[in-house]
Amino acid sequence: MNQLIGLAKKLSGTLTVPGDKSISHRGLIFGALAKGKTEVIDILESEDVQSTARCLSQLGVQIEKVGRSTWVTGCGLEGFKNPTAELDCGNSGTTMRLMMGVLAASKVHCTLTGDASLSKRPMKRVAEPLRKMGAKIKLTNENVSPLDIQGCALRGTDYQLKIASAQIKSAILLAGLFAQGKTRIFGEIHSRDHTERMLNLFGARVHSGCALGQDFVEIEAGQVLSAARVQVPGDPSTAAFWMAASCLVPNSRVVIEKISLNESRIGFIRVLERMGANISFKIESGGSRDSEPVGTVTVESSQLKGVHVKASEIPALIDEIPLLAVLASQASGITDVDGAEELRVKESDRLEAVATNLRSMGCVIETKQDGFIIKGKQELKGAKIETFHDHRIAMAFSVAGLVAQGETLIQGAECVAVSYPGFYEALNQLRKE
Ligand code: S3P
Repeated sequence: MNQLIGLAKKLSGTLTVPGDKSISHRGLIFGALAKGKTEVIDILESEDVQSTARCLSQLGVQIEKVGRSTWVTGCGLEGFKNPTAELDCGNSGTTMRLMMGVLAASKVHCTLTGDASLSKRPMKRVAEPLRKMGAKIKLTNENVSPLDIQGCALRGTDYQLKIASAQIKSAILLAGLFAQGKTRIFGEIHSRDHTERMLNLFGARVHSGCALGQDFVEIEAGQVLSAARVQVPGDPSTAAFWMAASCLVPNSRVVIEKISLNESRIGFIRVLERMGANISFKIESGGSRDSEPVGTVTVESSQLKGVHVKASEIPALIDEIPLLAVLASQASGITDVDGAEELRVKESDRLEAVATNLRSMGCVIETKQDGFIIKGKQELKGAKIETFHDHRIAMAFSVAGLVAQGETLIQGAECVAVSYPGFYEALNQLRKE
C-alpha cells in the first residue's frame, strides 16, 4: 500500500493513542507466567503484540479478548507445553528476546523464527548472558535466528550489561526469576523499566542498588507471580509522531491524553523542550514502583533550534531518533546526535534509512557510525520514500511529508500496522486543512 501525503496547513485536536507496545508485550507474558487470570486493559492491537499472543497461545496459554480487556489465563512457566510448530515472532524483537529469557528457563523445546528483518537482528547479546546462566540456546553461524532453545534449569548470575537495552535486561530478569539463587545486572541498566515495574505489580520483588560504585538491578529466584490488572497507557513513542507534527505544521495545537510519561521514555519530550518547542506535560496518575506515570501532553507549532543529543540520553528516546532527524531538518542550526549506533540494528538500519530518505527530499545530512549531523533549516521537497518495511521510518517520513513542498509518497505504508494500525486515520482526523 502506498500513501500520499501533502503539505498540511493546520493540525488540531485532542486524542489518545493506542496502548504502549512494550507494556502490552509484557502484560501478556507476565499474565502467562502468573497464577490466575490477568486482565490487560487497552492492550495495543498491532502485529507485534499479536506475535507475542500467538507464541504464548502455541505454548498452551489461553488468551481471550472481551471488549477493552484481554484476559490471560496464566499457567505458570511449568504449564508451558511443547509447541507443535515453530514460534514465529514476526517483526518483533521484543517478542523474540523476552521469550528467549522465559523459554530458556522452561521445560520446553522450541524454535523461534522471525520475518526477513528480525532474522538479521543480533541475538548473541541475549543468548550470551542466558548461556552464562546455563541456558541451551543455539543460534545460526551468524548469531541470528532461527534459534533453538532447549529449556533447562538455570542458575543466577552477576552480569555486566554492555548495551543499554531493555530487551536484554528483561530477558535476564525473567530468566533470573526462574533460576537458582540471585541474578544481578550491572552496567548499562538505565533503559526503559517496564519489566521492573511489572515484576512489582505481579508481586515479585526486584531490587535496585549500588555496589562498588556501580548501579545494579537484582532479582531473587523462586518468587511466584500472581495475576494482576494491567492498565496499558498510550504509547509515548507513538504519541511522538503527533508531537513532532504539531511542532512543525503552522497554526497547530494537539493534546494527547493518557500516555505513559515514564522518565525512561520521555527523552524525546526533554529534547523537544531543549529545541525550544511549545510543549508541556502533566502527570495525572500512577508512578509508584508498580505502575506507570500517566498524563497529558500539549504541543503547539514551534520555531525549533538545533540540539546536541549525547549518548547517555539515547535509551530514553531510542525509537524516536528517526523522527528527531526530520525535526532537525526544520530546526535552525546544528543538530548533532551521538551514541545511537543501536539504530543500525533495529527493524532496519535506521541511520541509513533516515539519510537515504532525507536526501531524496533534498536535505543534506552527514551520518556517523553512531548518529548524524544536520544543519537546518532546510526546505524539504516531496519524494518517494523507501520505508525498508520499518514502521517508524514510514511514520517519521509521513510527518516530513506534512511540511514538504509537493507530494510525498510513502511506499509500503502498511508496515505502520506493526505498532500503529490507525496512524493514517488519526492523521486525517487531526488535519484541518
Ligand atoms: C523495547 C526496547 C527497545 C526498543 C523497542 C522495545 C522493549 O529495544 O527499541 O522498541 O520493549 O524492551 P532495545 O532493548 O533493543 O533497546
